[in-house]
Amino acid sequence: MTRVIAVANNKGGVAKTTTCLSLGGSLAEQGRLVLLVDLDPQGHLTASLGLDPESLRRTVGDVLLGQSSLVAVSRETPVGGLDLVPANQELVILDKVLYKRPGYESRLQQDLERMEDGLYDFVLMDCPPAFGTMTLNALTAADLLVIPIQCEYYSVRSLRQMLSLVSLVRRKTNPRLSYRLLVTMYDVRNRVHRLIMHYLRARFSNALFQTVIQVDTRLRESPAFGLPVTRYAPRTRAAHQYRALAQELSAHLLPAIPMATQAAGGEPLPTQESAASVSPPTRGTKE
Ligand SMILES: Nc1ncnc2c1ncn2[C@@H]1O[C@H](COP(=O)(O)OP(=O)(O)OP(=O)(O)O)[C@@H](O)[C@H]1O
Ligand SMILES: [Mg+2]
Repeated sequence: MTRVIAVANNKGGVAKTTTCLSLGGSLAEQGRLVLLVDLDPQGHLTASLGLDPESLRRTVGDVLLGQSSLVAVSRETPVGGLDLVPANQELVILDKVLYKRPGYESRLQQDLERMEDGLYDFVLMDCPPAFGTMTLNALTAADLLVIPIQCEYYSVRSLRQMLSLVSLVRRKTNPRLSYRLLVTMYDVRNRVHRLIMHYLRARFSNALFQTVIQVDTRLRESPAFGLPVTRYAPRTRAAHQYRALAQELSAHLLPAIPMATQAAGGEPLPTQESAASVSPPTRGTKE
């Protein structure tokens, strides 16, 4: 059975694309068949696997318009077991016209339902830093939303907004959606990072991945070489941490397969009231 995962956060630059690429690479390395879907007009995921987004004739836009399927638009990448549905700037225009079409939010969900069983173990969708038609399609199709978050003041503030959106999607288009938070770019030497990590563990104990992704410059380099970090720099801390995340995710979503780290169950979605109560620690709070 294919597990569909959306990687999304309204906040920009929190490692959504890096997580899709590195997690996808790790899952493929562990023998899973993975389809990455780029839903961002910036085309960063597409470019990070060595393709020029603007030279593409067929993209995820064709799927959203109902003119093609994810499988038909997908292409192989340099990594075995890892395929990609690319995106480019045309999604900006599509975002403006798509919402006028009835049922647009279910396009990806419907296509995934028609996908041949067993073709992929995981579909990972990289969302843009906005709550538009692309993100709504991804959240409507997803079993699990992964929310990458930095341990910084503004990131925690925007989490409140993100959780309200999750609550809305669950009410309107996808009642089965669950979510998990992933701490990214963590710097243990940074006092605010440690403080906010403490807050997140207390507030989201069951909905926080145990795996933490620390700051590692190799993650900035790997897209320039068109590879996930697990192939570009396989022995680095970043590669090991994304492998651990892949194991934790597999254990969480495919519990029949024994894994080293068995994660706790996902937290049910917040009500609007509980989402509204997610407030960051006040500035200047002592550890
Ligand atoms: N763990 C890390 N350590 C150091 N740099 C990182 C790490 N994770 C991501 N980066 C870098 O941070 C920047 C933002 O990452 P990325 O593009 O993945 O974020 P994003 O959430 O997809 O951004 P956007 O909202 O624009 O789509 C990139 O330059 C990336 O290489
Ligand atoms: Mg991105």
